[in-house]
Amino acid sequence: MNERIASEHWAGRRVWIIGASSGIGEALARQLLVMGAYVVLSARRREPLDALAGVFGQARVLPLDASDRGQWRAAAAEAQSVYGGLDLVVFVAGRYEPQRAWELDTERVRASFELNVLSVYDGLAQVLPQLIEQGSGGVMLVASVSGYTGLPKALAYGPTKAALINLAESLYFDLAPLGVSVYLVNPGFVATPMTRGNDFPMPGLVSPAEAAQAMVKGMAEGRFEIRFPKRFTWAMRLLSRVPYRWRFGLLHRMTGL
Ligand SMILES: NC(=O)c1ccc[n+]([C@@H]2O[C@H](COP(=O)([O-])OP(=O)(O)OC[C@H]3O[C@@H](n4cnc5c(N)ncnc54)[C@H](OP(=O)(O)O)[C@@H]3O)[C@@H](O)[C@H]2O)c1
Repeated sequence: MNERIASEHWAGRRVWIIGASSGIGEALARQLLVMGAYVVLSARRREPLDALAGVFGQARVLPLDASDRGQWRAAAAEAQSVYGGLDLVVFVAGRYEPQRAWELDTERVRASFELNVLSVYDGLAQVLPQLIEQGSGGVMLVASVSGYTGLPKALAYGPTKAALINLAESLYFDLAPLGVSVYLVNPGFVATPMTRGNDFPMPGLVSPAEAAQAMVKGMAEGRFEIRFPKRFTWAMRLLSRVPYRWRFGLLHRMTGL
């Protein structure tokens, strides 16, 4: 069972967010800071992290290129020492580049797997020993409904998110009995720099602040999977269970691709 973290219980909790410089990660950092958490902010760009830390006294900046395996050990040691431990580690950094079969570029595929999947393993390897030893706290993996089923234009992105969903499920088996929570976040469309370039309609688009609210609510309810917005992500879930002979046609009609 995941821990239920009610909003009044965030004060003093120590959180490390990897991907806190924009979008969903930044919005979550703001919400947790407002509720009194201590937050270590990581991403590659220092400026937006400094700006956020300038507003909240209980935030610390820790620049990190999550795709660079060599940086993880020192970064995790620092994140753990800033506030004397960690209660929640949020893996939200990610990249999305639309790709179709006739544009297959293995360098870009590799870069997507490096960040969206392998960096999460690198981070977990550093933070899990401490979480397991303390028998409390948790990890949050931000995947996507794109991981539910193959989608057009998601040749690299979709498989990385499917891997994260599977990884979170596998982690839960091992960690829940040890008192360590695993939260899997599957957003629909969120209006962030990542989706700014999308040239198609985005049903159920929510703001980063709404996304962060849903994540906080999901943790308050102790949910394993936190997905939002409800109706769109439910429809995607349902579609992923439709037999293939109908699914491709339905998705083709919905996306026009
Ligand atoms: N927006 C959506 O509709 C949507 C839907 C489903 C899932 N998601 C997922 O939600 C997560 C956040 O996306 P977002 O929409 O908030 O996008 P975003 O605004 O582009 O934020 C991406 C974050 O990842 C960080 N990042 C990128 N490369 C990094 C690296 N090598 N090392 C460390 N940090 C890195 C970025 O910071 P720097 O550039 O400063 O490094 C930024 O803070 C992603 O995993 C995405 O796949 C988004």
